Amino acid sequence: MATVTFDKATRVYPGSEKPAVDGLDIEVEDGEFLVLVGPSGCGKSTSLRMLAGLEDVNRGAIRIGSRDVTHLPPKDRDIAMVFQNYALYPHMSVADNMGFALKIAGVPKSEIRQKVEEAAKILDLTEYLGRKPKALSGGQRQRVAMGRAIVREPQVFLMDEPLSNLDAKLRVSTRTQIASLQRRLGITTVYVTHDQVEAMTMGDRVVVLKDGLLQQIDSPRNMYDRPANLFVAGFIGSPAMNLVEVPITDGGVKFGNSVVPVSREALTAAADRGDTTVTVGVRPEHFDVVELNGSAAKSLSKEDSDAKAGLAVQVNVVEELGADGYVYGSARVGGTDKDLVVRVGGRDVPEKGAELHIVPRPGETHVFSTSTGERLSD
Ligand SMILES: Nc1ncnc2c1ncn2[C@@H]1O[C@H](COP(=O)(O)OP(=O)(O)O)[C@@H](O)[C@H]1O
Ligand SMILES: [Mg+2]
Repeated sequence: MATVTFDKATRVYPGSEKPAVDGLDIEVEDGEFLVLVGPSGCGKSTSLRMLAGLEDVNRGAIRIGSRDVTHLPPKDRDIAMVFQNYALYPHMSVADNMGFALKIAGVPKSEIRQKVEEAAKILDLTEYLGRKPKALSGGQRQRVAMGRAIVREPQVFLMDEPLSNLDAKLRVSTRTQIASLQRRLGITTVYVTHDQVEAMTMGDRVVVLKDGLLQQIDSPRNMYDRPANLFVAGFIGSPAMNLVEVPITDGGVKFGNSVVPVSREALTAAADRGDTTVTVGVRPEHFDVVELNGSAAKSLSKEDSDAKAGLAVQVNVVEELGADGYVYGSARVGGTDKDLVVRVGGRDVPEKGAELHIVPRPGETHVFSTSTGERLSD
């Protein structure tokens, strides 16, 4: 087991001026499951391939434990990688596929057999050891690819979108299996995905990348509760956080008819930048519905709803999910029509065409600088 350090690691591809990965600084803890996530082209695979030794590091360094591996060939780094296409050898049995790297390394046959059988047991592949890959399901093939990595007992696992060839249902069950397997084995793992749900459900910590630059590194909880900037706020969470540019008024920001209180520090920070607006973020589950079609929502008294006339939202589309529902509507904010998503209880779903009045729940708003995108509220 080992820690992994990206120390200002930078990759500039030949013929390009802009780095694909720019000054990446990450300390992965021993035994940690770290997930790199971001949109296509943000530099996830490049980061992983630098760690694997498959891509040159142009500036900075990479360390595994205390070893500087920046210029070591892949075979000397003590890592094992699982790719999106498992690249199993079609003519070899599952057992031979899993033991192949050990065979190349000259490990005695009996020892290979023992390690393959152990891994097969962990992965529930024992009865398939004699089969060829083509006689396996996609999920089983994926587990063989995992097995091939496990038998090598590396210091670090690297995985690049290993689930993206599986269908949606299998992806969900396999991600749980990989996460629990990793916890059981305790091997430091760097995992790449473009899927923020996968990142949030699997990682001990998550790194969000954009344009080769690290945006935030945090636990899934903190990433969701305190996104560091507008990009992370919009990227993490589904449906996405509502982000609305609103004018600053005394003691708060104006959200429809209501003034939402915002910390003085946040407003001062915005004013210091010369901004007259801030961008307020509210997650779909953090609105209270105070009024539906002119009558106060049942959970509120008359006085409450008068005091909180809130923001009027025209309901365009309703997505009923059973336990809850998502209302896709539009509202007049700061003189323009703005699309909003509001989560409602499964039994309180409004009709299409209805009008809702909503207020952001106190303490659940996020404030960002409109000009720089950085988080202003704490
Ligand atoms: N071999 C390469 N040569 C030149 N540019 C590359 C190469 N591989 C990737 N890139 C570029 O580097 C950036 C990051 O790519 P990549 O790391 O594959 O992103 P991701 O895995 O996040 O989708 C992209 O702009 C991509 O076009
Ligand atoms: Mg990639």
